[in-house]
Amino acid sequence: MIPYERHVFICTNQRDPSNPKGCCASKDADEVRSRLKKLAFDAGLRGRIRINSAGCLDRCEDGVTIVVYPEAVWYGNVGPEDVDELFHEHVLNGRPVERLRTDRPAGADR
Ligand code: FES
Repeated sequence: MIPYERHVFICTNQRDPSNPKGCCASKDADEVRSRLKKLAFDAGLRGRIRINSAGCLDRCEDGVTIVVYPEAVWYGNVGPEDVDELFHEHVLNGRPVERLRTDRPAGADR
């Protein structure tokens, strides 16, 4: 049994700007993380929802990359403007945000 209702991992990895892989830090990962943490805190979910920074999740081209457990849903291209929806739909109510998912099979309707 996992100790949290939802456990969110946000890649905040930073690379040198000259690195061709890019990184989530250069795509506002810290702001995404801060907004999610604030929403969870303001909702009084401390101890029920855990939001962690993560190192590179090896989906750099899709960054900002996020994984939400226990559903193991992967998200990509998440920006600060997506945080409210991600929080209220998935983190709070368990409904994955389909338009941001990157774990769907190739050719799946997006
Ligand atoms: S730098 Fe974020 S997934 Fe690699």
